[in-house]
Amino acid sequence: MIVGAQWGDEGKGKLTDLLAERADAVVRFQGGNNAGHTIIRDGEEFRFHLVPSGILYPGKTCMIGNGVVIDPRVLTGELEELKRRGIDFGGLRISANAHMVMPYHVLLDTAGEAKLGKLSIGTTRRGIGPCYADKAARLGIRVQDLLDAKILRKKIMAAMEPKSQALRPFAKDPALDLHAMTEEYLTYGHRLEPYIADTARLCWETLDSGGTVLFEGAQGTLLDLDHGTYPFVTSSNPVAGAACVGAGVGPADIDEVWGVAKAYATRVGAGPFPSELDDEIGRRLLEGGHEYGTTTGRQRRCGWIDLVALRYAVRLNRMTALALTKLDVLGGIDPLRVAVRYRHPEGAVFDEFPYHQSILHMAEADYEELPGFEADIGECRREQDLPREARDYVSFISDYVGVPVRLVGVGPGRDQVVWMGEAAEPRLRAA
Ligand code: GDP
Ligand code: IMO
Ligand code: MG
Repeated sequence: MIVGAQWGDEGKGKLTDLLAERADAVVRFQGGNNAGHTIIRDGEEFRFHLVPSGILYPGKTCMIGNGVVIDPRVLTGELEELKRRGIDFGGLRISANAHMVMPYHVLLDTAGEAKLGKLSIGTTRRGIGPCYADKAARLGIRVQDLLDAKILRKKIMAAMEPKSQALRPFAKDPALDLHAMTEEYLTYGHRLEPYIADTARLCWETLDSGGTVLFEGAQGTLLDLDHGTYPFVTSSNPVAGAACVGAGVGPADIDEVWGVAKAYATRVGAGPFPSELDDEIGRRLLEGGHEYGTTTGRQRRCGWIDLVALRYAVRLNRMTALALTKLDVLGGIDPLRVAVRYRHPEGAVFDEFPYHQSILHMAEADYEELPGFEADIGECRREQDLPREARDYVSFISDYVGVPVRLVGVGPGRDQVVWMGEAAEPRLRAA
């Protein structure tokens, strides 16, 4: 299982693409097109929002699990783009139980943010929160509903009825016309029908015959609805435990949990970020790391790596390993800093991630300084190619959070990775 260890955009897409080669199936289990996963293969860039990042392997079973929320306009758009680029996506499977993002979810997301004004969350405005809210309220529209005009129409009416007041400002919006919406979603249903499947059963079949399923997380641990920096979070659970629910497998099916963390930290949208940098180094990370959102194009807030939050994420997900991406971006910054505790303005010191919202909002990070490395490490491919200071930086992080770093990213390219440690490349069960 691959999960984000920070606030998203850690490089989960690249790692999934890399490991998918050795897996029999890849499955997304939560989130929606708020995610943006970038893969660079042979200099060609692919950006996926809903399609699992294993799709570049022809015929590989790539599932969108029941826990994902699907905007079918975005999904069909992504499939058209793949077709245009000659990618075979015959292995795609979509859970019949996944929920649909509807036009009113998108409008309500934007309206909700506007209403919050200065307190807004900075959502991606893709309708994710309102869609998950409808799921919990049992007013959701699911993939299987797209296959029956009568049921679809009835369910849309039932879902819109309690929202009539909130939707009043959009009364004239053609996207909300019941007839047009039903027709549009039926069309998506026709297009997606060949891919609709019982994805949980497909996971069991793969696992029970000794195969490997790779779970591709979206967002990150600190954006988790229950364990993140609430209310500045997403509306799903990106943590490892949620993959069982979102894909339909049991905890005992999971044997490895890999967290992905950047060698520094970024966050898009509002909310606490104790190690945030508002200086020249922050700008350097922004430019050097091209920290602009894949989904919304927004600048990502940048800061030093936060080991208080990372250690929390390691335990919460019970990670078995870490992949540390974008180490190359730190090249030439000396000294490097890593956040090891938080300090409250009134003097209290926190070694553990605090659960109290107002403490976290006021907390400032305390740092340990480590020597930087000057070299451009983009060409390093083996552990011993990395400068000593870079290896020491990785070891410090690994020791601090108590989990081995198995992989280091030294550039955006697919081959720009360094496998670490004795075991080097992992031996997943043969695909
Ligand atoms: P995801 O949402 O976790 O899949 O991550 P994103 O794709 O949104 O953002 C990660 C960005 O960093 C992408 O543009 C990747 O191409 C890029 N990237 C991934 N690993 C590395 C790395 O090791 N070095 C550099 N420089 N870029 C990387
Ligand atoms: P990937 O999978 C980074 C953030 C938004 C906002 C908050 C809530 O690419 O790592 P939402 O639209 O989900 O209701 O917004 O969550 N957010 C992400 N930040 N990467 C993502 O996905 C994100 N998905 C949501 O910026 O702060
Ligand atoms: Mg992303």
